[in-house]
Order: sequence, then C-alpha cells, then structure tokens
Amino acid sequence: MSSTNNNQTKTALVTGATGLLGRQVVRAFQGLSVPTELSSKAGWTWEVKGTGFSRADGVNVLKVDLEKEEEVERVLGDVSPQVLVHCAANRFPDKVDADPEGTRLLNVEVTRTLARACASRGILLIYISTDYVFSGKPGEAPYEADAATGPTNLYGVTKLDGEKAVIEEFSKAGKEGLGVVMRVPVLYGKTEEGRNEESAVNVLLDAVLKAQEGKKVKMDHWALRFPANTEDVGRVCRDVAVKYLSTSEAERTSLPRILQFSGEEQYTKYEMCQLFAEILGVPVDNIEANTEGNDPNASVQRPYDCHLSTKALKDLGIDVSTQDFAAWWRRELRAFRH
Ligand SMILES: NC(=O)c1ccc[n+]([C@@H]2O[C@H](COP(=O)([O-])OP(=O)(O)OC[C@H]3O[C@@H](n4cnc5c(N)ncnc54)[C@H](OP(=O)(O)O)[C@@H]3O)[C@@H](O)[C@H]2O)c1
Repeated sequence: MSSTNNNQTKTALVTGATGLLGRQVVRAFQGLSVPTELSSKAGWTWEVKGTGFSRADGVNVLKVDLEKEEEVERVLGDVSPQVLVHCAANRFPDKVDADPEGTRLLNVEVTRTLARACASRGILLIYISTDYVFSGKPGEAPYEADAATGPTNLYGVTKLDGEKAVIEEFSKAGKEGLGVVMRVPVLYGKTEEGRNEESAVNVLLDAVLKAQEGKKVKMDHWALRFPANTEDVGRVCRDVAVKYLSTSEAERTSLPRILQFSGEEQYTKYEMCQLFAEILGVPVDNIEANTEGNDPNASVQRPYDCHLSTKALKDLGIDVSTQDFAAWWRRELRAFRH
C-alpha cells in the first residue's frame, strides 16, 4: 500500500472516515469538493485512505483500532502519509458521560499516541477539535483561537486535553509547525441513509417530523449555534494541508498551531426547526420554544455562545466561505416535498 510521492502527488490519511465529518474530509482530498485558489495553485493530486472501526469494511475504509498502538504504527507505516486528519473521537454527550475512561482513552490518549507517531515521522497532523473548549458565557464570543478556554462538560475537557497533547508532543519532538488543531462548531451535512442522529442539526428534522404525529416537543431557543457544513470543513482541512505542507520547514514553525472554522449564520435549535418546517411546508405548532437557558444554581452551565472567529485561517489566505444553510437544506429536502 505504501506509495512513492513525487512533488505533485501527496498522501492523506483520515481517521474517523466512517463518521459524519471523516467521510467528507476523504471526499475533499479525493478532489470531490470545490477547488480553491490555494488548492488549484498547488495542483496536487491526493491519494487518500480512511480508517474506521465498527463500520469499516476493510476495503474502502481500513479497519484500525486506534486504541492499539501497534495498529496505529502499522497503518502509518503502510500508508506513509504526508498528512493525517484525525477525526475519530467519542463526541456524543451521553456516551461520554456513560464512559468517561473510554472517552479519555480515545479523545486524549489516542490523540497523544498519534501526535507522537506523526511528529517522529514528520507527518502533518490536523486534529479536529470543538468550539466546546470554550465556556460560551454571554458576552465572550466571538472567540479568537488564542482566547482563554474553559470547557463546561467532559466532552469539551477531553477535546481540550487532546489539543494540549498534540501541541506538547510536537514541541517535544521539535516539530512545532506540523501539529495543528482545527476547531469546528456543531456540524451538519450528509448523514448515512436514515441516520439523522449522526448530526445534532440533522436530527432536528426527526423532531419536526415527530411533531407532525401530535407529539409535543420542547426545543432549545436560548443557545446560539453557528452550524458548519461538513463539506466546507473537508475543503478547509485539505487547504490547511496544502498551506502547511507547501511552506518551508523554517517558515512553518511560525504558522499558527490553532485554527478555527465556523458557519456564520446564527440559529437556535428552535429556529432550525422553524426553517425545516417551512421548507417541508408543515406546521411547528407542537414544537415549543424553550428560552429558559441555564439555571444559575446548576453545577454544569451549558455554553450560550461559542461562536468561533476564523481570523487565523483568513490570515493564512485560506478560503473560509460557507454554504448557505437554508439553501443547502432546501436542496437536501427537495425529495421530501414531492
Ligand atoms: N459532529 C459535530 O457536531 C462536531 C462538532 C464539533 C467537533 N466535532 C469533532 O469532529 C470530529 C468528527 O466528529 P464526527 O461527528 O464525524 O464523529 P462521528 O460521526 O461520531 O465519528 C466518529 C468516528 O470515530 C471512529 N472511532 C470510534 N472509536 C474508534 C476506535 N477505537 N478506533 C478507530 N476509530 C474509532 C468511528 O468509527 P466507527 O463508527 O467505524 O466505529 C467514527 O468513524 C470529532 O473529533 C469531533 O470531536 C464534531
């Protein structure tokens, strides 16, 4: 499987390639997302391999248990990539809370192992992180990449510790410019057939449909969200790889270690439901807007607004344009309306 790379052919490896984001990151490197000025100028062709676990078929997507260091070493040796985009994580809050140790193992320790292995082999690592590393307290957003962090839940804590592991391991190895953190907000996009629950946005469609059966649904109308499309994130990951790999080793150390991408359209979950209902031509009567927000006495405070600034990406000349949220959903739901 190992490949010889001339200047124009590069190899990318994507973990979590059976997941919501990883599938689109693979497609972006395959050249299936929009070309940008940066990617066209580089003119690179990518060979791309994805890894998954329970859903990997072993043919299109390699089955690799990232919790086993020997499997990590083997896949890096076999694929020999120039860039690894690390999407695999445990990100479902109920699963995180039910298995804090397993979550720490995957989100932090596996990330550290990958960072160490990539640093020692000179592979660029793009670690996908989250806006939930911030507290989201009213008045703080938009957050710059260097703003003070303060996660409010275990998921955010483990993702932040994963970030620290990446930065530490690459500094220890003296390869600072090759370890990059990419924070993204709540994601939407193509899910597996019939599995809207893969995305915290797509799943709201199920709530709207349920409400049509007469079931009353309470929907959050307090926290502000800036959903990003998985295709856009895939394109940005590819462009980050192009930018960092095409920068000389000496100059790369002065490139930022933390980058952030975001959608720019603000919605509460209730507003997303309103939009889906409008597109489907159905009422939202059974969906009740919940404006309660946080109980000030509760021990865990949910983030109100974690809007991420994309300044660091823009300063690098990376295209941060986003798809129009409503237009994407109008196209996606066309079939439903007929
Ligand atoms: N989704 C969001 O709204 C969102 C928001 C902000 C940040 N993020 C971040 O974006 C990244 C991608 O999220 P996602 O939504 O695409 O996640 P996802 O759909 O839940 O996919 C998780 C992936 O991790 C793989 N995986 C789990 N355990 C593994 C193991 N032991 N060894 C190897 N692979 C394993 C899964 O493989 P199998 O399914 O094949 O087992 C799957 O491909 C994550 O880092 C997440 O923290 C996501």
